[in-house]
Amino acid sequence: MLTNKLGFEGKKILQKVIKAANQMGVNTYLVGGTVRDLYLNKTNYDLDIAIEGNAQEFANFLNPVLGGDIRTYERFLSATITLPSFFVLDITTTRKEIYLNYGSLPIVEPGNIYDDLKRRDFSINSLAIKLNNQDKEMIIDPFNGLNDLDKGLIKVLHNESFREDPTRILRAARLLTRLKFNLEENTEKTLTKSIKYINRISGTRLKNEYKKIVKEDNTLQILHLVDAWGVTPYVFPGIKLNYLNPKSIGFIKTWCRNRKEIETWLILLMLIYWQCSPKIDYIFEVPFDFSKKEKLCLEWMVENRKVIKRLIQENINFSFIQLHRLMYNVPEEVETFLLSLLGEKREFLIKEIKKARQGVYLPITGRDLLKYGFRPGPIIGKILNNLEQEVLEGRINTREEALNWLLEMRDNYAE
Ligand code: CTP
Repeated sequence: MLTNKLGFEGKKILQKVIKAANQMGVNTYLVGGTVRDLYLNKTNYDLDIAIEGNAQEFANFLNPVLGGDIRTYERFLSATITLPSFFVLDITTTRKEIYLNYGSLPIVEPGNIYDDLKRRDFSINSLAIKLNNQDKEMIIDPFNGLNDLDKGLIKVLHNESFREDPTRILRAARLLTRLKFNLEENTEKTLTKSIKYINRISGTRLKNEYKKIVKEDNTLQILHLVDAWGVTPYVFPGIKLNYLNPKSIGFIKTWCRNRKEIETWLILLMLIYWQCSPKIDYIFEVPFDFSKKEKLCLEWMVENRKVIKRLIQENINFSFIQLHRLMYNVPEEVETFLLSLLGEKREFLIKEIKKARQGVYLPITGRDLLKYGFRPGPIIGKILNNLEQEVLEGRINTREEALNWLLEMRDNYAE
């Protein structure tokens, strides 16, 4: 029985799923990537579960027994339960999907398990194991997916598949690389013809697919594969991927491995444009929906490109004040990006950058300046900036020294 391969913890979860499904009187199945990976003996902590019934109701009924974090998605008839023990349950209502516009999300309506397997991307993912009721443990394989798993083939279920959902092109690249599979002949033909539809994917979905590529072990290999298919101009306009340095990618991945809050994908995107684009401004043409913070990182790179280049060339001679100007208050992604460019020399700068990113304590404030007769306006910011420089260079340490400096300078700032 394939489900025996789930291991102790996985099987315990599955028993609770089956019990809840029996109590609610619904048919339940393990589906998609979970079945594929069980068959291939690959560890997968994502349990894809399909219910011939209401997935949200089922998830709400099941979760108190599991004690996880639950999220429900009305539009997709689905719910996710995240457990403290690595496992994530993706629970969906078995459904039919109707594509009105190529590239957009489909209209979804409930259907049976066969409808559900029919709407999927590849034969190797159109697999289900029945978990309860009649034919328990039966493998449902309407498209010969097990056979394709044996042969190591990625095959679409019909010729419109990539056109209806062009994100599948990127999914194919991920799976091909991860599993070391090949494209079935006809699938390769329809894939090649469908590349142009990538520009119909919304910015948010495209960004999500790119994030998944970055999470894979073989990111660079996947990027080269989709590059060979002609995908690059649609996702990363203006770049020549051959210039991407594997060492910098390696550094970014290792650095971010235990820092979950850092957006690894964003750092990699900055690196791609830094190393592979004749003009880094092209980064603003990447068709992702960037958040405010993400834009801030890109703008930092573009605006500071000359200083960054100098820092890479002569980091030892870079003064702390220059570093402070460059790094003050920047997101951690910016710091990691910079470190990835510094190579062997980075050890020296890590501590300095940390200090430079923090604020500098100023012994007097804007309010003090008003008390000493300065009028509100840009002049206050200018004086505080100059004061910051004095503090950074060690000429002013105390409030008294700052006030003396201010009195001496007052005439220079007279309006
Ligand atoms: N799926 C699909 N078309 C898509 C996305 C997903 O048909 N554009 C189907 C596939 O059958 C897939 C399942 O939904 O197996 C679950 O999707 P997801 O969790 O993203 O993929 P997995 O196959 O589990 O892959 P991974 O191992 O990368 O998580």
